Amino acid sequence: MTPTVAVLVGSLRAGSINRTLAHALGKLAEGTLAFDFVEIGDLPHYNDDLWQDGKGPAPVERFKAQLARADAVLLVTPEYNRAVPGVLCNAFDWGSRPYGRSSWDNKPAACCGASPGAIGTAAAQVHLKAQMVTLGMVPMGKPEFYLAFKADQFAADGRVTDDSTRGFLQGFVNAFAAHVERLRPH
Ligand SMILES: Cc1cc2nc3c(=O)[nH]c(=O)nc-3n(C[C@H](O)[C@H](O)[C@H](O)COP(=O)(O)O)c2cc1C
Repeated sequence: MTPTVAVLVGSLRAGSINRTLAHALGKLAEGTLAFDFVEIGDLPHYNDDLWQDGKGPAPVERFKAQLARADAVLLVTPEYNRAVPGVLCNAFDWGSRPYGRSSWDNKPAACCGASPGAIGTAAAQVHLKAQMVTLGMVPMGKPEFYLAFKADQFAADGRVTDDSTRGFLQGFVNAFAAHVERLRPH
């Protein structure tokens, strides 16, 4: 069966280049990995008091159920002030609780990101990879993925129009699929 990948995008804005990137990766993964986009914008700010008898608010329960169904996790995120956007860190915190019932444990995972600037989220991903390990995910180390985004690399429907960019994205997808397969329980 095709493994399901929970995809979290670290930007909430409608015109997000990282959401465009995530959809382009999803198209290239068709038949190999099934992308399931996970909403994180409706999660409240993390507050331990919001757990009632081990249950969180409705968006948190939906979020954790979606992660439980996933075989792997893909994080596609911008860099904010050389760090990981707060909305994504907030999602990490909800997923990590209640204590002993983390949604992240042993999930094969990968991260990538795009920015209009030259370093393409590299600074944020240094923090992000450390967080992924702390949370108990098993991140793919290589290939690294930092994209200096140019609008003419992508069509409106998510197709990658630039051959070199498409080759780079396809290589990342293939490596991630192999990483997920290697860690799959048999
Ligand atoms: C609060 C904030 C902080 C930012 N900090 C960085 C940064 O540290 N490095 C960077 O390359 N771009 C930075 N940017 C620019 C983002 O890369 C750019 O807005 C990008 O389009 C955001 O991703 P999105 O299109 O997926 O929302 C920042 C943008 C915002 C709004």
